[in-house]
Amino acid sequence: LGRAHRHHATVGSTQSAAAEWADAGAPTGALVTADHQSEGRGRLGRVWADEPGRDLALSLVLRPKLRPEHLGLVPLAAALAVCDAISGANARLASGVALKWPNDVLLEGQKVAGVLGETRWRTCGSGSQSPTVLLGIGVNVNRRTFPPELAARATSLALTSGADLDRSQILADLLLALERRFALSPEAIVHAAEAQIPALGNTLQVGFPGTDRAPLIGTALGLSPSGALRLEASGEIVDVHAGETTVLP
Ligand code: BTN
Repeated sequence: LGRAHRHHATVGSTQSAAAEWADAGAPTGALVTADHQSEGRGRLGRVWADEPGRDLALSLVLRPKLRPEHLGLVPLAAALAVCDAISGANARLASGVALKWPNDVLLEGQKVAGVLGETRWRTCGSGSQSPTVLLGIGVNVNRRTFPPELAARATSLALTSGADLDRSQILADLLLALERRFALSPEAIVHAAEAQIPALGNTLQVGFPGTDRAPLIGTALGLSPSGALRLEASGEIVDVHAGETTVLP
């Protein structure tokens, strides 16, 4: 990963830059990084903002050889890799790292990193379709402030550890961790992710922002083989593929 690499001081979104490069024939593993994104995107249509020069924003162009039902495991494996890189960066951080389904990384309960997977389909010569995944990862590394509406729910590695970290070292560790996690079987990714999601076993509310689907409340049983959240709700087993989870007391 990252053998082909484009770095921008400022870019709208590394996702858009990666999409353009993918269309122009970027090889699998091509990496786009930026010191600052002026139009960073999060999941579910949200904005992703950084503190210029202090955080990590990257996108990878991936052409995975996975069955369509397993493509959702790419961002899940990436979230695990982010956990690995954070745990390795500073011993004080390791014990507080957790996953929040589908692929948020929390540090002591506050969001420190997010992962965005966008899949595009290309028609090959034979007429069959092959996927390109634009995998975006944002890590709050050295930022010290958040807008008031996020301050209670978000943190950075520096805020939690008390010291600035070396962004290029974290990027290098993260690329290695991604390679290791992508080498796992689909079952192993699901298994490893389940072990990092403390909310499993609890009653969750799952909201569907940006849609008119009513929120679901149920017990989180685990993950399905494709990485969906498996809930028991009103006596039925439901697999949820995207949404926003909140643990209910
Ligand atoms: C989320 O938690 O909602 C996902 C956040 C993903 C942010 C990253 S930063 C690099 C890449 N470029 C973007 O515009 N978004 C992703």
